[in-house]
Amino acid sequence: MTLNDLWFDATCCFIANEWVTPDSGRFLDLHNPSTGLAICQIARGSATDINRAVEQAQKALDSDWGRLSAAERGRFLSRMGQLVREKVDTLARLESIDVGKPLTQARADAVALARYLEFYGGAADKVHGSTIPYLEGYTVYTLREPHGVTGHIIPWNYPMQIIGRSVGAALAMGNAAVLKPAEEACLSALAFADIAREAGLPAGALNVIPGLGQEAGAALAAHPAVRHISFTGSVSVGKLIQTAAASNAVPVTLELGGKSPQLVFADANIDSALPFLVNAGIQNTGQTCSASSRILVHRTVYDEVLDKMAERYCALRVGPAMNDLDAGPLISARQKTTVHEFLARGADLHIAAQGKIISDAPSAGYYVAPTLFDQVDSQHTLAQEEIFGPVQVLIAFEDDEQAIQIANGTNYGLVASIWSRDGARQMRLAKQLRSGQVFINNYGAGGGVELPFGGTGLSGHGREKGFEALYGFSSLKTVAAKHD
Ligand code: NAI
Ligand code: MG
Repeated sequence: MTLNDLWFDATCCFIANEWVTPDSGRFLDLHNPSTGLAICQIARGSATDINRAVEQAQKALDSDWGRLSAAERGRFLSRMGQLVREKVDTLARLESIDVGKPLTQARADAVALARYLEFYGGAADKVHGSTIPYLEGYTVYTLREPHGVTGHIIPWNYPMQIIGRSVGAALAMGNAAVLKPAEEACLSALAFADIAREAGLPAGALNVIPGLGQEAGAALAAHPAVRHISFTGSVSVGKLIQTAAASNAVPVTLELGGKSPQLVFADANIDSALPFLVNAGIQNTGQTCSASSRILVHRTVYDEVLDKMAERYCALRVGPAMNDLDAGPLISARQKTTVHEFLARGADLHIAAQGKIISDAPSAGYYVAPTLFDQVDSQHTLAQEEIFGPVQVLIAFEDDEQAIQIANGTNYGLVASIWSRDGARQMRLAKQLRSGQVFINNYGAGGGVELPFGGTGLSGHGREKGFEALYGFSSLKTVAAKHD
């Protein structure tokens, strides 16, 4: 794909089904992480564009979009899902160029977007209230209603999946969405807008304003007419978003990443664990909120796990997204610097193994070799802080109690997994782990459209994905009728 193949105007905002030039008349450069070269320019949306988008979203709620039945809303989402399926290969190539994802991963993201739209399309007319027994002479029931205009501020690591899980659920419940994609990567968000238009989604139900976080993003988070904000990104910006939302007393969903552990016990099937242990760390070049960056291993099987993981690391190949290797580049020069700084902070540690950057990878691309550190103290910076790069640490433990203490010993709590054949241990530890998701004898980084997802602690709060998300994107009204 070349830029001439783009079927929408990347320099525009998408407001009420129209492509409009940003009010600022200013633009940002988008880079291809595989080459470091500029791809194209995108709109530098401002508070004025956000205002227009919110206004149009409100208008949609007060007219066509707001009058649809749940089943009709669901049909629009299903149609969008169908269109995404038809365009999976095109979307995957677009995302590979924009984000630097190996094609297989980008394709998986496009399929996941279709799945979210199918799931929430089917779920739209299946969310209902309840009746509540109350005093004699009363009938009480509840209604699930949309919040109104919802703001969606998303990052660059999984644009399609995050659009699917957050915008998909918001539209299913009858909200009108304003989406602010990340300045580093926003082509799939614009392609998604065009798909919504093609599906005939009523004007204003979805609006997309690209731009900088501190400009368009901050304006969206602070807008008084936005009634719910969902944010995925860094802890520091998450706190800003929550503060902005608090000033308008509106709810937020924050999905802020983690330091997710996998616990490998002596009775684990190590060979079936291995692909999960490694892939969960290097998938999307480690730039995954639910990446597993800590591998905790019982000391009796530590050497075996170390040797087998090291062997896999030595075989890992990193290169341009289009080469579709084990990992692509990082998203930006800035992210590469961040990861290198973390690696430097691990200078006191032993490197067990590293993957290789292929020799013909463009030198201006943002490549870093996957790195496995060995015998790391659980309090070390590399075992405590989110790196967001292809770096994993191995930590040994003595017994179940210590495993839980280490697993729960960070400020995060997003995903964890237990590798053991002992059913009682699986159940006991699943309860003890401080984590939004726990996997037993598998690890689900990314996927799992049906599975409620979200964190505790600094990993954030609120749940997206699955049916649960629909509750977050709606407001419950209680109606108490006295009729005696
Ligand atoms: P970020 O949190 O700055 O960006 C995420 C989104 O928030 C982008 O759309 C950005 O434009 C927007 N944003 C930034 N500042 C804003 C503000 N003041 N008000 C409103 N919106 C704002 O994350 P960034 O800088 O891309 O990455 C930094 C670190 O954050 C990464 O190294 C990683 O540790 C973490 N991160 C976690 C993600 C996750 O999936 N949980 C995704 C991306 C980053
Ligand atoms: Mg930032």
